Amino acid sequence: MISYKDLGLVNTKEMFEGAVKGGYAIPAYNFNNMEQLQAIVQACVETKSPVILQVSKGARNYANATLLRNMARGAVEYAKELGHEIPIALHLDHGSDFEICKACIDNGFSSVMIDGSHHSYDDNVALTKKVVEYAHKFDVTVEGELGVLAGIEDDVVAEKSTYTKPEEVEDFVSKTGVDSLAISIGTSHGANKFKPEQCTKNEDGILIPPPLRFDILEEIEKRLPGFPIVLHGASSVPVEYVNTINEYGGSLKDSVGIPEQQLRKAAGLAVCKINIDSDGRLAMTAAVRKVFADEPGEFDPRKYLGPARDQLKEMYMRKNRDVLGSADRG
Ligand code: G3H
Ligand code: 13P
Ligand code: ZN
Repeated sequence: MISYKDLGLVNTKEMFEGAVKGGYAIPAYNFNNMEQLQAIVQACVETKSPVILQVSKGARNYANATLLRNMARGAVEYAKELGHEIPIALHLDHGSDFEICKACIDNGFSSVMIDGSHHSYDDNVALTKKVVEYAHKFDVTVEGELGVLAGIEDDVVAEKSTYTKPEEVEDFVSKTGVDSLAISIGTSHGANKFKPEQCTKNEDGILIPPPLRFDILEEIEKRLPGFPIVLHGASSVPVEYVNTINEYGGSLKDSVGIPEQQLRKAAGLAVCKINIDSDGRLAMTAAVRKVFADEPGEFDPRKYLGPARDQLKEMYMRKNRDVLGSADRG
C-alpha cells in the first residue's frame, strides 16, 4: 500500500471547500507525459493555483501507472523547487469499475472517480458506495457521476447525452457518500461537442453552441447547497489552435467547445472542478505542427515538444486566471 500522503499529495476536500466559499473552480488537467506535467506544474505554481492532476485509464496504459505516480510525486517536489508550494491532488479520471479504483487508491492516488453513469441508477449507487467505503478508509476522496455526457469517455461511447435529473441527486449523494458529483448539463468530451446543426454562426462564421443548462445546475445547487459539483467535457476548443492546426496540414472539421464565459459562470455557481483535456491536446498539436512546417529539417524532439509545452503552459495560466478563477487560491 502506497499512501498519497507519503508522496506529498492531498485529497480534494480542502480544495473544494475553498472553491465553494470562493466561487471558483479547481482545474483538473489530464496528463500522459512529462511535457504536459511540466506545463501544468509551471502554470499552476506561477498563478498560485491548486491543481488536480488527472490520469485516465488510457493514460495508465500509455505511460505506465508506476511512472505516472512517481511523476506526480516529482510534481510536488518540482513545485517546491519553483518556489511555491501548491496543493496537488492525483485523481483517477473515469474509473470504470471497483478494481481500477482500488488499484489507484492502493498506489498513491488521493482521489478517484467512479463513473457508474452508464449503469442503471441502482447499480450506479451500489458501485459508487462500494468505492466510497473502500476509499474513505484511506482518506481518499471520491467523485461519482449522474447523467450521461455525449461523446467518448475512455472506451465508453454514448450517442446521446442524458441530462442529470435534479430529483436524483440528494438520494444519490446520501446513499453513496461521494465527496463530489459530476453532472451532465450540456458539455461533452472531445473537440466536436455539438453538431453544426445544433449551433448558430456568428458574423465571422464561427459556430456558437447552445448554452449550458444552467437551470439544471441551479436546481442541483438548491437541493445540495455547498456540495462540490464537477463539470467534465469543459474544453473551449479555442479557434486559434484549430486554425493553426488546419493551416499547417491538419484537418479538424466543425470543432466546437464550451464558451469560456459559460465556464466562468458555472465556476461562480456550484461547479468546483472543471475537467480540461482536449484544449491541451489542441494547444500542443498546433505548436508541434507549426514547428514541423516552419523547420522541416528539425528532428530533435525538444525543439518541437518544448514549444508545445510552452504554449500549453500559457493556456493553463490564462484558464486559471480568467476562466476558472483559481489563480492566487493555492
Ligand atoms: O474524459 C476523457 C479524457 O479526456 C481522457 O481521455 O481516455 O483518451 O486519455 P483518454
Ligand atoms: P474535454 O474533452 O472537454 O477536454 O473533457 C475532458 C474531461 O472531461 C476529462 O475527464
Ligand atoms: Zn470526463
